[in-house]
Amino acid sequence: MLLLMPLSLMAEVNIIPQPTRVTEKAGSFVIRRNATIAYNHKSLQPAAAYLQEKLQPATGYSLPVSKGKKADIILSLNPKCQAGAEGYTLTASENGVLIEAAGYRGIVHGIATLRQLLPCQIEETTLQPYVTWRVPAVEIEDAPNFEWRGMMLDPVRHFFTIEETKRFLDVMALYKFSKFHWHLVDSQGWRLEIRQYPLLTSEGAFRFPEDEHWDRRCNEIAVKDNNPCMKVPMTGEFTRVKDGRLQYGGFYTQDEVRELVQYALVRGIDIIPEFDVPGHSYAATKCYPWLSCSGDGRDPICVGKDTSLEFCRNVYKEIFQLFPNEYVEIGGDEVNRSAWRKCPDCQKRIQDQGLKNEAELQSWFTCTMEKYFNENGKKLIGWDEILEGGVSKSATVNWWRGDHTDVVQRSTSGGNEVILCPFTFCYFDYAQNDSTLQKLYTGDIVPTGLSAEQLRLIKGMQGNIWCERIPTEAQMQYMVFPRALALAEKAWTPNSQQDWNKFYPRLLKHVDRLKTMGIVQRPLEE
Ligand code: ACM
Ligand code: ZN
Repeated sequence: MLLLMPLSLMAEVNIIPQPTRVTEKAGSFVIRRNATIAYNHKSLQPAAAYLQEKLQPATGYSLPVSKGKKADIILSLNPKCQAGAEGYTLTASENGVLIEAAGYRGIVHGIATLRQLLPCQIEETTLQPYVTWRVPAVEIEDAPNFEWRGMMLDPVRHFFTIEETKRFLDVMALYKFSKFHWHLVDSQGWRLEIRQYPLLTSEGAFRFPEDEHWDRRCNEIAVKDNNPCMKVPMTGEFTRVKDGRLQYGGFYTQDEVRELVQYALVRGIDIIPEFDVPGHSYAATKCYPWLSCSGDGRDPICVGKDTSLEFCRNVYKEIFQLFPNEYVEIGGDEVNRSAWRKCPDCQKRIQDQGLKNEAELQSWFTCTMEKYFNENGKKLIGWDEILEGGVSKSATVNWWRGDHTDVVQRSTSGGNEVILCPFTFCYFDYAQNDSTLQKLYTGDIVPTGLSAEQLRLIKGMQGNIWCERIPTEAQMQYMVFPRALALAEKAWTPNSQQDWNKFYPRLLKHVDRLKTMGIVQRPLEE
């Protein structure tokens, strides 16, 4: 049947990540000016509005949206749908498009698939008058393998505006990522308004770029390589004047954060905030030196002093109120514990709590904070160093040290859930060469030798984008795309359905789609 169709009427089906089942049919549906959108349950109104908004700029059609069951494009919540919380079915025929799911997330993933079924010009932000908005007739059944399909962005080492972050979330939604881990705090800057401690942003959010190693380094590379994307932006939203000199930085107000959280939720993405303690905390200790062991304002935070613990609780309290997701990140990586060795307060804490050493002191701190998280209805995630000195079973571990291959074995045998983001595959700030993409797609991110019970404790995968050497949105996109699409497929599509030779030709088609979205990419070999 398919073979008899005129080629001009055949639109291609190239979905990333690869859905569970795709049945191509004869014919197609064309979205025209008089098309309509309906949703059958009030909870889907934001999804319908999002779809309408996505289709508007390129088509020029402001499609009417209504609650009901009759329309050209129907979003239908159906509790009988078998595909789980995020699964969906999409049926496109000459009569229109039906997306069905048991939950909101499934509907949104169906919308991502519909975006990908349309010509890539649908992603343009200006009117495309000569494109036929053809959706090929198809039946798709789909559901993810892992629930945690994450990306982590570091707006500390270099700042990304809310608009830039929204653009990033929009691409994440197109490829069905579900978690945005937001590394809001580190030694080089504090990026989140905390009402109780205003210095964190009034002082901690800005710096003189001349004083910061990575700013100097990026600017050197920009000159050496004649690459403006490597130049630290010293204009507009990224700067302020202090003592007659220009400072670099920025922060997010609580109102902006609330808006971004909603923006992400509409697109099926949870934002997981990180306040990294007790290390990586110079932005805090320099503003409030009493947080440090000797009062000199050096990192790490002194965990011997009750005042420091109170500070952490108060900051987390504001974070808990801003971010509705149950998970919050404590960080806990790369703590230089030598200051604790010399600190009478830290040593007293070790004695009073019957601890053996500073590693156990960190573990005590993590467990103390975790109790506070839990009392507030939150769950704790930390980088894999939280395992050192022992960790409670209920904490979730971010495996990042790819050279510590025992981490996943150890954490899952202790009952801890794990998110896989080993630097060996998942650090998207690491340099790329022509084999990086294939190595990521074909590599074993899930370590071998785990029992079925241990495998159940793997929540999923995450790409991490540390931004020491990434000063602009364009450079960030260049480092992340298109390799993030390989990770999207590894996290969504079961291993048995992953096939490099089928993925790569599909990926080539997505280069144009990303380009249409204005995304800078590392060129692929044709
Ligand atoms: C990390 O890369 N320090 C988590
Ligand atoms: Zn101390």
